[in-house]
Amino acid sequence: MLIHEAVSLKPYNSFGIDVEAAAFASVHDLNELHAALGYASRHGLPVQTLGGGSNVLFTGDYPGLVLHMAFAGIDRLNDNGLIRVAAGENWHDFVSYCLKNKLYGIENLALIPGTAGAAPIQNIGAYGVELAQFVVTVEAFDTVAGGVQVLNRNACEFSYRDSVFKQGNSPTLLVLSVTLQLSTVPNPNTSYRGLSEALAGGEVTPEAVFAAVCAIRRSKLPDPAVIGNAGSFFKNPIVSRQKYQTLLQVYPAMPCFETEDSDLVKLPAAWMLDQLGWKGRARGQAGVHKEHALVLVNLGGARGDDILLLAQEMSTSVLSRFGIALEPEVRIIYSGATGSAE
Ligand code: EPU
Repeated sequence: MLIHEAVSLKPYNSFGIDVEAAAFASVHDLNELHAALGYASRHGLPVQTLGGGSNVLFTGDYPGLVLHMAFAGIDRLNDNGLIRVAAGENWHDFVSYCLKNKLYGIENLALIPGTAGAAPIQNIGAYGVELAQFVVTVEAFDTVAGGVQVLNRNACEFSYRDSVFKQGNSPTLLVLSVTLQLSTVPNPNTSYRGLSEALAGGEVTPEAVFAAVCAIRRSKLPDPAVIGNAGSFFKNPIVSRQKYQTLLQVYPAMPCFETEDSDLVKLPAAWMLDQLGWKGRARGQAGVHKEHALVLVNLGGARGDDILLLAQEMSTSVLSRFGIALEPEVRIIYSGATGSAE
């Protein structure tokens, strides 16, 4: 049976929030996708797609159809590093597969939770590397036109934690697979300070980068299988260099990351939250991770609204202290909303 009614989404979101979807379908191919979308249309249900559920916060029961994108398969398209991964494949397993098969570049993106199909939606990035650098095409189902579209990298409109697949409340492009150009020769990227420090003194190979990234993530970020979370809850804000200079006068230790635009810098939201003493605090069952101020956690039985209230309190405090409005990185799904999520 393809469509299930009144399904708990607890196993399908890494926050572990116990909400229910009115209807739920795990789709493995285009036939199942067509059938599920047909069901939603006949019943007038909004549709929300879900990959690994690792970047999403449900604030209540979802009154529509949740489409769990479970397309499978990894295809090496040539001997020069061109590879296609289906939306439902686990991202970290794919990174490991590539490394074992001597395909390099995405080792910095090891251990990011979620599926390969979600990777382009928020243009996953970590430790000096962004997915967009490797994307050749993204194959997506266009729910308006009713067919498959192949988007090249420009058409994907990638930017920091953003893409054409994320825009608006009702994205109409559902990611089916991603085609990447990887390198067949090792070319380790150690531009991220914390990573180069971790690698200092040893041989710098893609395998060493993979191991160091895994170790850093394990030391700082909670494993969603153990404690519910969705990684960074907020984006790092991008501000003018002038604003940063003004802040530096008051907070001389404030770090910043350079961006492609020399007039703009990215500020670590975690650092600001840490200055405000948020690390390790809790409001009921919603908490801030004790090792990383940007990560909200479900301490057990939290409701989506509990997490949201805590997040609002945190962003209000950053606004009043630093004059900076934090934007959520996690996709918040209010009851009744339509769209695409990871
Ligand atoms: N910091 C603090 N206090 C903390 C945590 C960090 O002061 O509690 C400081 C650190 O000392 C460092 C700076 O903040 O100077 C940045 O911290 P970190 O290297 O951990 O990176 P981040 O900016 O917090 C971003 C991504 C992560 C990604 C890392 C590594 C966003 C929103 N987050 O975090 O991505 O893994 O860089 O590249 O861009 C995610 O998106 O879910 C995610 C985990």
